[in-house]
Amino acid sequence: MGIILYIGNDKNITDSIQKFSSSRNRIAVLDAGFNYRHYIEEYMPDYILLSESTDRFREISQYITDQTSSNLIITGNNKEGHILSGIPAVSCPETVEQLKKIVDVINNIYSETEAESSKFKFLRQEVISFYSIQGGVGKTTMAVNAAWQLQKKKIGKILILDLNFCEGPSDIPIRLDINGSRNIGDYINDVIGGDGDIGKSIVELNGIDIMSAPYSLYQSDSFNIDMLDGLIYSARNDYDVIIADIPFRYDNISLEMINLSTTSVLVLSQEIRFAPRILGFKKFLPENQKKIAVLNKFENSGDMAIDDLEKITGIPVCIPIPYIPSERKSLTKGDNKITGIIDLEAGVNNLLSNIF
Ligand SMILES: Nc1ncnc2c1ncn2[C@@H]1O[C@H](COP(=O)(O)OP(=O)(O)OP(=O)(O)O)[C@@H](O)[C@H]1O
Ligand SMILES: [Mg+2]
Repeated sequence: MGIILYIGNDKNITDSIQKFSSSRNRIAVLDAGFNYRHYIEEYMPDYILLSESTDRFREISQYITDQTSSNLIITGNNKEGHILSGIPAVSCPETVEQLKKIVDVINNIYSETEAESSKFKFLRQEVISFYSIQGGVGKTTMAVNAAWQLQKKKIGKILILDLNFCEGPSDIPIRLDINGSRNIGDYINDVIGGDGDIGKSIVELNGIDIMSAPYSLYQSDSFNIDMLDGLIYSARNDYDVIIADIPFRYDNISLEMINLSTTSVLVLSQEIRFAPRILGFKKFLPENQKKIAVLNKFENSGDMAIDDLEKITGIPVCIPIPYIPSERKSLTKGDNKITGIIDLEAGVNNLLSNIF
């Protein structure tokens, strides 16, 4: 059962629209003067019908676009048609009849996806970024482990996006042994050629789609924020979970990726002396994003109090992931080949339970 939320003030509409609820969806109505963020976060509506005449229309439509995975339908005369620029939304005249038609269309979409949905649990779309304030702490290991575990749970389509631009293959293609394959470089060429199809740059492994960093810095240099925005916009249409492996670099691409994420995961080492850097970095994190920190390679040396860390950073810290000693267990590929990524199963599952 899905949720359709109508936000608007027209009494005629608010009285009528609630009657459109069916076995496939529930229709909720939110009046002016409400705490819309709280409601949207709690109920995660699949579709939001937002009246153009609502107070704070711009603020709300921007919030829905940037911070939620709800589909936005703007109702009204679209007098201010320019408002829609930069906001992915469709518009519909604000009459009871038109809204009924829209709700019927949504009902049909639900019925088409019902067979699919019985296979896995529907979940809120997540864009999860793994980042750090020092190198070598386990971002790549954790990003790949997260994808592996989510794939095992069959929760939907997963994309790993590797933003570790370097000369030659980056860590993910090397460790997963997918060298020489397609990567973001193909997407860049496609965008320059006027298209922008992400499918051409994706390699599939264990049922997970992977988009690796380009193999040359020359190519990476032409990757800009607009391309990243376009890439994530397309990927959000195709994937249920997007996992970004962000390098320890404060460049515009890394910061924009964090900005576009629904959840940011800060991977930390036990060295508390790095904490001041977290405070410096926090200003780059969007206010309404889900944030979580995880200590990796944890050893019970007692020099890290998680409560202190939470107090210092203001970011919740989940159960630490232990250091895996030399007899490492590695993730395996579909053909039972061992990858160069160590298996952090229990720890990563705990992290994921904090996100989903
Ligand atoms: N829990 C762990 N126990 C033992 N070794 C680990 C653990 N997590 C990661 N490692 C190892 O630490 C090294 C660095 O991990 P990884 O490459 O994932 O870090 P990173 O943060 O992505 O590094 P970079 O900043 O270079 O991108 C790797 O050799 C990896 O196998
Ligand atoms: Mg890495």
